[in-house]
Amino acid sequence: MATNHQASAPRYAHITGWGMAVPERVLTNLDLEAIVDTSDEWIRERTGIRERRIAAEKETTATLGITAARRALEVANALPSKLDLVIVATSTPEHIFPSTASLIQDALGASSAGAFDLSAACTGFIYALDMAAQAIRSGSIEMALVIGAETMSRLLDWEDRGTCILFGDGAGAVVLQASSVPGGLLSTVLRSDGSGRDLLAAPTVGSKDAYAPEAGLEHNIAMHKMTMNGREVFRFATRVMKESIPEAVARAGLTMNDVDWIVPHQANQRIIEHAARSLDIPLEKFISNVERFGNTSAASIPIALCEAAEAGRIKADQILVLVGFGAGLAWGSMVIKWGIAEPPEPTRRNRYQRQVAYTFARQRSRLARTLRRIGAWIQRTPLRRLLPPE
Ligand code: COA
Repeated sequence: MATNHQASAPRYAHITGWGMAVPERVLTNLDLEAIVDTSDEWIRERTGIRERRIAAEKETTATLGITAARRALEVANALPSKLDLVIVATSTPEHIFPSTASLIQDALGASSAGAFDLSAACTGFIYALDMAAQAIRSGSIEMALVIGAETMSRLLDWEDRGTCILFGDGAGAVVLQASSVPGGLLSTVLRSDGSGRDLLAAPTVGSKDAYAPEAGLEHNIAMHKMTMNGREVFRFATRVMKESIPEAVARAGLTMNDVDWIVPHQANQRIIEHAARSLDIPLEKFISNVERFGNTSAASIPIALCEAAEAGRIKADQILVLVGFGAGLAWGSMVIKWGIAEPPEPTRRNRYQRQVAYTFARQRSRLARTLRRIGAWIQRTPLRRLLPPE
């Protein structure tokens, strides 16, 4: 990660690449009828969701994130070695540590990048994008990869019909680059109210709620499942969308009439419709794919953004508002002036360079881990005398 703090000319942070990855396996509402006491009709009426994607056994938060990241680098026509920073927003990391971002950085061969995970639940992607944009605008870095990736299916209580019908798995990624062209990320509003921590939660080892050694392994594993107060979360979501979107728009020096698209967190179609009504914005301006993917938490905004960009719906110089809300409680809105007309068409040479970089990254990582194991073994034998002094 580069750090020079000598930026003088104004710098802007533009999204130059986008990518997404969802598992192949589709879980429909009818499939859910066989798992919990629910119905397709109930789920569609209350949420607008018809189906969601569920990770296969070998798919993980990192593998989904890697695929989305490679696609984003492809669109940006950027080499992974040029990345300065990788941030993964997730509530379902591979480990408590190391970060999922480090695993993705390694798999991409982003050898000059710093990497960390960011925990802000369904608002995580907005928080992460803002952190990366700040680093770019300050002159500290040139290019960042921001990923929202989740395997929510592994956190769900599949006996709780109030939550398991809502969520799905997937990942979305964007490449963010420094530019002298005015635009890109214009303003952000980030907020939190931890007094709502009980409304949507999934405790883990550091929590008194989850740690009960005398209760045995099964209890402790069960305590790691998600719990939610749906009605309260619904009320919270509609309130903060109504407040934070106009606030972010005003901070960008714009009015609501300037907004071309709203890319909301895809939690529930009714929440989106409620926001459209209360803000008096036509529903057509809201990008929604909740019907097909359900709530993919931190991945939902970048997946929706990616689909809209791929379909050519978002045009150069249009104004977008991203808005997220969820556990914390945390929420945020961000205004973006879309900076690029058409992404550059990658040449065959560029594609080849990236493929070589990924293959090399895989081999380098394997070799580094093998050498570390051999080194550790030698340290335990008389051969250690042959090693150079530390
Ligand atoms: N299938 C059938 N019935 C269900 C059900 C399901 N999957 N889940 C709950 N019900 C039942 C309840 O048990 C309740 O029955 P009762 O009246 O006999 O007690 C009834 O449906 C109404 O429950 P309620 O929780 O009041 O429903 P709701 O209209 O609030 O809808 C949610 C529930 C979860 C769809 C809605 O509250 C919601 O979307 N909240 C926001 C959740 C969210 O987006 N979370 C993530 C934020 S990041």
